[in-house]
Order: sequence, then C-alpha cells, then structure tokens
Amino acid sequence: MDMDTKILSATQDGIASAAALLRQGSLVAFPTETVYGLGADATNGQAVAGIYEAKGRPSFNPLIVHLADATMARDYAEWSDAAEILASAFWPGPLTLVLPLRDDQGLSPLVTAGLDSVALRVPMHPAARRLLAEFGGPVAAPSANPSGRISATTADHVIAGLTGRIAAVLDDGPCTVGLESTIVGLTGKGPVVLRAGGLPQEAIEAALGQPVQNAQGSEIIAPGQLASHYAPDAAVRLNATSARGNEILLGFGPMVCDLNLSASGDLTEAAANLFGHLHQLNSTRRPIAVAPVPMQGLGRAINDRLQRAAAPR
Ligand code: TXA
Ligand code: MG
Repeated sequence: MDMDTKILSATQDGIASAAALLRQGSLVAFPTETVYGLGADATNGQAVAGIYEAKGRPSFNPLIVHLADATMARDYAEWSDAAEILASAFWPGPLTLVLPLRDDQGLSPLVTAGLDSVALRVPMHPAARRLLAEFGGPVAAPSANPSGRISATTADHVIAGLTGRIAAVLDDGPCTVGLESTIVGLTGKGPVVLRAGGLPQEAIEAALGQPVQNAQGSEIIAPGQLASHYAPDAAVRLNATSARGNEILLGFGPMVCDLNLSASGDLTEAAANLFGHLHQLNSTRRPIAVAPVPMQGLGRAINDRLQRAAAPR
C-alpha cells in the first residue's frame, strides 16, 4: 500500500480536509499535546484495521478513543464518581481513562480488541480539538509511529515512519508535553495507573485524595508493557555518567554531553524533548548512553520510556 501522504496545515481548510478524510475511512495523523496520533473513524472497522496495518501493530493491542469533549465519554463508557473527578480535573489533557465499555454504541470491536473496557481521552491540543469537533465522532488513535519504534512528536517524525501508508498528516508543530498520556484504569476496585505518562501520578492522587496503585507491567495487554518498545536502532545504555567507546551521550541536568534533555534539570522540558532527542541520536546510528533522570513527577514516565528503549530485543 503506497499512497501519496498529504501534509495539511492546521487552518480551517486543513482541518476540514482532515475531517473529510476521516469520514471517508482514511487514516490521518494529527497533533495532540502528548504525541502525534494516527487517527481513524472508531466506528469504521475497515478504517481501524488500517491503523494496525499501517503501524505493523500486533492486532491484540486495544486503541485509545479520542473525543471532542467529556460529555461524549458517557456515551461509550459506564461513568463513575472517580471518572467524574478525574475527567473534570484533567480533561482536556494528557489523561486516558480505561472504563467499562457500554456495548452497542457503534465502536468497532477492533478498537477495544474484544475487551469489555474502553480507553477514552479528551486531548487539549487546539488542532486536535478542532479536528475532533469538526469530525463529530470518536477517533481511534495510537501514537503515530511504526509499532515498537520511537513515538512521533513532530509531523516530520510521522512522515519519516509512515509516509506512503497514511492519507495525511495534520502538521501543527512539535508536541508540548512530549510523552504519551497517563492511563488510569477504573474498571476494578480502585484506580490503577496502567501507564505512566504526561500527567504525573502525584496530580492524580491529589485530585482523588487517595494513593493509586501502579500496575505497569502487570497483566494488561499494552505495547507499553511489551519489554522492548520506543526502540531506536542502536543499543541504549541507561544511568550513564559519561560516554564509553563510540557512544553518544544524552544528558540530564548540568553535565558535559552530546545532547541534553534539560540542562537546567527541568523534567517538563525533558519530557517534551525526549522522543525528539531520541530520533536525533538514532539518526547518528551510534549506540546511545543516557544519564540518570530522577524518579519523581514526569521522571517516572521518562524513565519508563527509557527502560523500554533500552530493553533487550
Ligand atoms: O498520548 C497518548 O495516549 C497517545 C495520543 C495519540 O493520544 N496515544 C497512545 O496510544 O499512546 P497507544 O496506542 O500508543 O497506546 C495506548 C495504550 C496501549 O498501551 C493500549 O494497550 C492501552 O492504551 N489500552 C487501550 N485500551 C485499553 C484497555 N481497554 N485496557 C487497558 N489498556 C488499554
Ligand atoms: Mg505508542
């Protein structure tokens, strides 16, 4: 499948074209504040199947459904007090809620990969919001990168990985958060963080007024839980204080290095830079060494992505 991938700008015309392509069942990559998503009409099974095909993704991984506003979420999932608290505190924003699925609402079963739960997200990025509002329905979208590879935080990254396989990319510059959304499961007894991400766990605990479990790496099927993910071509070595041999050093905080996630040690800046810097280092084809990043706030998600990038494959 080799098609001409259009680059659309986030003007009224560009958004209208992107929405029309989605309506036709075509794949459109679009910016969110976290990473670029690869969108398809979530009610169109053929379109959703196209996502798996374009990404080369194992078909058992369920997808996040993106919605224009929180009201729409109640159509697709069983709502709860915890869902209400988290949605009103953090939507629109870098949070995904996994909730019990309401059947027969028209979502393709491919979106949920046959599970009886559904992952919902209302993104904050203005272009994403305009696209979702213009389309008017649920948009299934994983990160817009070939399966297992570094996530895309610019339209150029999307083009590099997926050109010829998707109809268009809506280009609205780099993503501000730079890490995928934090996924919170609300299908069991208590709230559980299924994937650390752009919303710190501390903020979720403060809103709920209770500690939340961290179930990363447990039984739920998620690409974030395949050991090797976000993988550059070359080897990645963590907790490095200096480069060895031919390595290129990705730093954090004040230090001598080839490229720095944040010279001032700012975790928000580091998150925004993470995937872009990995893409850049990857293009050198040299093995990558990465300096330690503190395990607090967004540092949890940054370390999670780095560990997966470094995992044996
Ligand atoms: O920031 C983000 O979340 C980006 C942007 C595009 O929204 N999307 C993203 O999607 O990261 P993806 O497909 O790369 O990751 C979605 C994660 C996967 O780990 C998937 O397994 C999990 O969500 N997921 C989806 N539905 C689920 C469900 N019902 N139960 C548990 N996990 C689920
Ligand atoms: Mg992904």
